[in-house]
Amino acid sequence: MRTSEKPLIELVGISKEYRVGEISTVALKEVNFTVRSGDLVAIMGPSGSGKTTLLNMLGLLDRPTKGKIIFEGRDVSKLSDRELADLRNRKLGFVFQTFNLISRLTVFENVEMPLIPRGLPRSVRAEMVKEAILKVGGEIEWLRKKPNQLSGGQQQRVAIARAIVGNPPIILADEPTGNLDRASARIVVETFLNLNKEGRSIVIVTHDPEVANCTEKIYVIRDGSIIGEYKANPGESLISRMS
Ligand SMILES: Nc1ncnc2c1ncn2[C@@H]1O[C@H](COP(=O)(O)OP(=O)(O)OP(=O)(O)O)[C@@H](O)[C@H]1O
Ligand SMILES: [Mg+2]
Repeated sequence: MRTSEKPLIELVGISKEYRVGEISTVALKEVNFTVRSGDLVAIMGPSGSGKTTLLNMLGLLDRPTKGKIIFEGRDVSKLSDRELADLRNRKLGFVFQTFNLISRLTVFENVEMPLIPRGLPRSVRAEMVKEAILKVGGEIEWLRKKPNQLSGGQQQRVAIARAIVGNPPIILADEPTGNLDRASARIVVETFLNLNKEGRSIVIVTHDPEVANCTEKIYVIRDGSIIGEYKANPGESLISRMS
C-alpha cells in the first residue's frame, strides 16, 4: 500500500437508500472511503451490511442518495450515464462471485467485450485478449472454448482477464472466491496480487478472512457504516497457509 499516492476514487459522505414501494433500506450511511493508486484492500462485513452497495458506488454503477463521488479529482455527479459508462469502461474492471460470463459466447468473445466500444482494429483486440488470458495464468486453448467447458477456477480467471483486458487502473471484485475451492481461490488471489504488483488498485469484498489477509488493509463494514480498518495479517492468509 502506498498511502502517499494520489486518490483515484473518493467517496465523501456517501449515503445510499433503496426504496421498494413503501419500504426503504438505508444501505450506506455517510461513508467516507478512498481508493488510492496501488492500493490492495479488502472489505469485510456480514450479509446485508452494504458491501456490494459500496462497491457499486466505487464502480460508478449506481448513483448515491447523498454525498459526492470524486473520480481522479472530478465530481462525477454531473456526468451523464453515457459519460459514466465510458469512464467505467476505461478505468474500472469488475469481477463477480458468479463469474458473469456469457455462456453462448466463446472465452475469446467474453474477454474481448470491454474492447468493443473502443473501436480498435480486430488484430489489436486479438493481441490484447491473448495477453490478458496469459497474464491471469490461462491458456490460449481456452479462447476457443465456451465458459462451461472450463472449471470454476478457470472461469474466474477468464472473468479476471475480461476485467483487465482494457488495462483499467482499478479492479473491483465482489466475493471473487465465493464459489471456488481453496486451490482455485488461491490461484485467483495470486492473480490479484500479481496485478497489484503491476500497480493496479484492487478492492476485494470477501467473507473469507484468509483471502482478506492476503491484502494490505481490511475495512470492516456493518449496517452501512465502516466500523474499523485493520492492517492485514499475512500469517493468516490463504497464501501462507497453503505454502
Ligand atoms: N436493489 C436493491 N433494492 C432494494 N434494497 C437493496 C438493493 N440492493 C441492496 N439492498 C439492500 O441494501 C442492504 C445492503 O445490501 P448489499 O447488497 O450492499 O449487502 P452485502 O453486504 O453485499 O451483502 P451480501 O454479503 O449478502 O452480498 C441490504 O439490506 C439489502 O437488502
Ligand atoms: Mg454483496
